[in-house]
Formats: sequence, C-alpha cells, structure tokens
Amino acid sequence: MGLNIFTAGTFDLIHSGHVNFLRECAQLGDVTVVLNTDEFIERYKGKPPVMSYDERFQILSEFRCVKNIFPNWANENCAAVVDDLRPDIVAIGSDWAKKDYYKQMGFDQNWLDERNIKLLYIPYTQGISTTDIKRRLQG
Ligand code: CTP
Repeated sequence: MGLNIFTAGTFDLIHSGHVNFLRECAQLGDVTVVLNTDEFIERYKGKPPVMSYDERFQILSEFRCVKNIFPNWANENCAAVVDDLRPDIVAIGSDWAKKDYYKQMGFDQNWLDERNIKLLYIPYTQGISTTDIKRRLQG
C-alpha cells in the first residue's frame, strides 16, 4: 500500500519549482495538497494571491502527481487539517528547514510522533519562486 503524502501551500503562479516539488512528493505515494485560502494568504502575506483559490485549484487538479486537493479550512491552525487527514508524511520544501515550520503548522515533534507522522523536507529548487516571478514582471 502506498503512503499518503500531505503538503500545505499556496501554489500561486505555478512554476517549475512547484512542479519539481510535487513530482518528488508523488515518488513517495499519493499526494494531497491542502491549498491555502485567499483570505488566509491575504492575512499572512498582506495581499491576496495573484491567482484566486479556484484558479490555483483548477491548475493543480490537472497535475498527474496530485491525487487530492482540499482547502486549508483551518487556516492558521493547519495542524487541525493534518489531524483530520492523518497522512503518513507531511512534506514541505527545504526552504522551510531554515524557518520554524513547526510554528507555522501549529504542531511540534511530539505531536507528530504521537500520530506516527513523519515530517520530510524536499530539496528546494533554487532560482525560482512566486516572489521571484513577481519581481521579474516588474522588469
Ligand atoms: N517550493 C520548492 N521550490 C521552489 C518554490 C517552492 O520546492 N523553488 C515548494 C515550497 O517549499 C512549498 C511548495 O513548493 O513546499 C509550495 O510553495 P509556495 O510557498 O506556494 O511557493 P513559493 O514559490 O515558495 O512562493 P513565495 O515566493 O510566495 O514564498
């Protein structure tokens, strides 16, 4: 039986870094993307995404490497979504290894251990990001 892989993210202005990340996740099992809502992104980043939730959802739903997409209904309390879905692995790009991903998600290592959930950092694709694309567009 394959593993269930959970990842939460925004996936605005889909780019090759996202594709590499999701492809790596899909090597491990069935990928569920928990997609941040427009409201959460606006609160977290101070402005809404370029592409709406529905637009981001529509593109991701065409990806062979993505099995399920759900809204991040718990927003700031994303651990509640992990608790509901009970994946085998929570995957995130390794850019987060330098930041406090535990705090971001609202869980800690004990919480994950109690549920037998592994946290996995996937190698980040250097040189491209949504932020970088916005910068490129400004010329
Ligand atoms: N990701 C990645 N490589 C990149 C960009 C993103 O592996 N070059 C991963 C992130 O680590 C995350 C997922 O893709 O697990 C979704 O990232 P997201 O934050 O939506 O995209 P970014 O391009 O990082 O957006 P921003 O620049 O706004 O932070």
